[in-house]
Amino acid sequence: MSEICYEPIGLLHTPFSEPSGAPIQPCGAGDARGRAELRPELVPALEDLAGFSHVILLYHCHRAAAFKLKVRPFLDHNEHGLFATRAPARPNAIGLSVVKLEAVEGNLLHLKGVDMLDQSPLLDVKPYVPQFDAPPGPLRTGWLADKAREASTQKADERFSPEIS
Ligand SMILES: C[S@@+](CC[C@H](N)C(=O)[O-])C[C@H]1O[C@@H](n2cnc3c(N)ncnc32)[C@H](O)[C@@H]1O
Repeated sequence: MSEICYEPIGLLHTPFSEPSGAPIQPCGAGDARGRAELRPELVPALEDLAGFSHVILLYHCHRAAAFKLKVRPFLDHNEHGLFATRAPARPNAIGLSVVKLEAVEGNLLHLKGVDMLDQSPLLDVKPYVPQFDAPPGPLRTGWLADKAREASTQKADERFSPEIS
């Protein structure tokens, strides 16, 4: 398989300069506001986006440690296979967050409910469409079944940062 090289479409600005203390998912971010600043030449591609209440952001977790195949995720004391978690340290360190789109202003998207670090390089923006993105039940949520709700209160620590990996 050959290498794939993406150029960021912009940068994310958020209140979280360090992993420790950041929300671990948008459901725990409350009113935390941020901005996506897109490259100016991409502004025409934002036409009609303001009609959507939420957007899917794909971004590079630029400060993640090297990945491990088994990890102890934020919401459990037990190890799990990396791909059964949402840990930021992955072979391709891509983060995915569904956040509220408050306004579109030129090349800026004003966002609420952000869980990513400041200066995360933005790879893509897509409108969130429940009919496309929320599968009909019944759903299984694996080892997170009894733990996912804790993401609304639990904050991150340094476990996926290079310094201590
Ligand atoms: C558990 S990950 C989930 C991210 C995304 N919602 C997902 O599911 O892909 C969220 C945590 O990753 C860390 N993080 C966020 N942005 C990062 C970045 N750009 N580089 C490294 N770590 C990051 C922060 O500690 C944050 O609390």
